[in-house]
Amino acid sequence: MKIAVFAGDGIGPEVTEQAVRVLQHLPLPLSLLVGDVGGYAYQRHGHPLPEETLACAAEADAILFGAVGDPRYDQLDRHLRPEQAVLGLRKALGLFANLRPAKMFGGMESASALKPAIAGAIDLLIVRELNGDIYFGKKGTERTASGLRRGYDVMSYDESEVRRIAIIGFEAARKRQGRLCSIDKANVLETSQLWRDVVIETGQDYPDVTLSHLYVDNAAMQLVRDPGQFDVIVTGNLFGDILSDQASMCVGSIGLLASASLGERATEHGTFGLYEPIHGSAPDIAGMGIANPLAAILSAADLLRHSLRQAAAADQVERAVAATLRDGVLGRDLGGDASTSQIGDAVLERL
Ligand code: NAI
Ligand code: MG
Repeated sequence: MKIAVFAGDGIGPEVTEQAVRVLQHLPLPLSLLVGDVGGYAYQRHGHPLPEETLACAAEADAILFGAVGDPRYDQLDRHLRPEQAVLGLRKALGLFANLRPAKMFGGMESASALKPAIAGAIDLLIVRELNGDIYFGKKGTERTASGLRRGYDVMSYDESEVRRIAIIGFEAARKRQGRLCSIDKANVLETSQLWRDVVIETGQDYPDVTLSHLYVDNAAMQLVRDPGQFDVIVTGNLFGDILSDQASMCVGSIGLLASASLGERATEHGTFGLYEPIHGSAPDIAGMGIANPLAAILSAADLLRHSLRQAAAADQVERAVAATLRDGVLGRDLGGDASTSQIGDAVLERL
C-alpha cells in the first residue's frame, strides 16, 4: 500500500508528521513516498507542483497532503503560487468530490463558538464539488477602455459536473440520515439555477432521500442558528470552501476538520484519493509547534477508510482522537496548552 506524503508549507509538515506517526504505528504494510509541493517545491524546483511530484502521485494508492501557502510567494504569477499545487493535484487527478465531515466530539461542546446545546447536535457532511466553479473558470486582469484595472473570474458548471457531485451527495445521504440539502444562489446566478435543476433531476433516482434547497446566504445563517438540521450538504466549490471553514468553528476549531478528495480512479486497494485537513498553512503559527494535528490525523483515518479499505483501523484512529479530546489533551486552538507533538503522543498512546 503506497502512500504519497506531500507535507507542503507552514504548519503542513508539522501536522503531517503526526499523521505519519499514527499511520506507521498501525500493523499495515505501508510504504511512504515523499514529494515536494507548494512554496517548498517552488523553492527547490521552481514550480509548486513539479513533474516528480505528479509522478509520485500517479504511483501511489493515496496522497496524504498537509497544506500549501507561503506569504513570501503571494506576489508570484498565479500559476506559480504555492496554492496551485493543491488546485493542480485536484484537477490533474480528477478529484472532484470533497467530503468534509463535521461532527461534535463528546466533551467539546464548550469549545464551540456556538451555545453548547446547539453545537451538541452537529453531525453533518459537506460534499463540496472540487474541479469546477469560479476556481477553474477563465480569469484575468485587464485594462478597461478608460484605463481602469479590471479583474474577472468566470463561474461555470456544466450539467455533467453537477450530476456527478449530486450523485455523491445523494449516495452519502442514503447511507446516513437520508436528508440532502443543496446549497446554491439560484435567485441570482445562472450557474446556480442549472445546479438546482440538475440536482432535482438527479433526485428522481433517490425517492428515499429528502431533498431541500437553501440559498447560500441563508445557509450560512442556518449553520450557526441550528446546525443540527443538516445531514448532508451538497454545494459548489466556492460555497463549500467557505461554509466548511464556518462549520469548523461550530465544532470547535479548524484544527479538527479533515477532508477526503475522491474521483473515479480505483486502485488495487480502494478508491484513489487525496486527504488533507481543511485548514491552510497557517503562517501565523508556523514553526511554533502549537498547530493542532488532529485534522491531519483524521485525514489519515479517512485515507485508511476510502483508499485502503481499512475501516477497522480508521475507526481505531478516530476513537483514539475522540479519547484524546475527551481526556482534555487540547491544543491552544481549543483553549488548552498541549503542543503539536504532545497531541500526537496522546493519540498514539490511546491507539
Ligand atoms: P489557514 O486555514 O491557514 O488559517 C486560518 C486560521 O486558523 C489561522 O489563524 C491559523 O493559525 C488557524 N489554524 C489553521 N489551522 C490550524 C491548526 N491545525 N491548529 C490551530 N490553528 C489553526 O487560512 P489562511 O490563514 O487564510 O491561509 C494561510 C495560507 O494557507 C494561505 O496561503 C492560503 O492560501 C493557504 N491555504 C491552503 C489550503 C490548502 O493547502 N489546502 C487551504 C486554505 C488556505
Ligand atoms: Mg478553504
